[in-house]
Amino acid sequence: MNPVIILRKEHEAIEMELSELDFIMSEGDINYSNLVHTFWKTCELWDGHEKLEEDIFDVMKKEGFEIPIDAILLEHKSLSGRVESITNAINSGSDFEVRKVLAKEMREFVDVLRVHMDREDDVFSGVLVSEFSEEGLREIKRIVGKYQ
Ligand SMILES: [Fe+2]
Ligand SMILES: [Fe+2]
Repeated sequence: MNPVIILRKEHEAIEMELSELDFIMSEGDINYSNLVHTFWKTCELWDGHEKLEEDIFDVMKKEGFEIPIDAILLEHKSLSGRVESITNAINSGSDFEVRKVLAKEMREFVDVLRVHMDREDDVFSGVLVSEFSEEGLREIKRIVGKYQ
């Protein structure tokens, strides 16, 4: 069980949704119901991913790898804030408000999340699973099992 592969695969799945959001937003006449639907799908993936990732980063750090956990947690928090703000706009029920906020905040959300995942991918590239202790690997297995 390689946590780096698991997290990278999840990043790829999230990126597929981000590309879909890019596509929807690139159209002159944006399909808002499609945009909202794809946003929920992205959030569902991202929410589970974030929890799994935070637990895995903890183990990686304990295994002696250099993981900028504080910075990553701050970014997760800031992304959560963006999700909340977009969710509020969607739930506000005001079409004008929804569209105004969605267009701007969705663009930022996609860009920020993409940069965040790229940065994490860089962090992963410094993590060698072959250097994990047996106990560390057992811990990873337990964590991954918990989220499946
Ligand atoms: Fe993350
Ligand atoms: Fe991630």
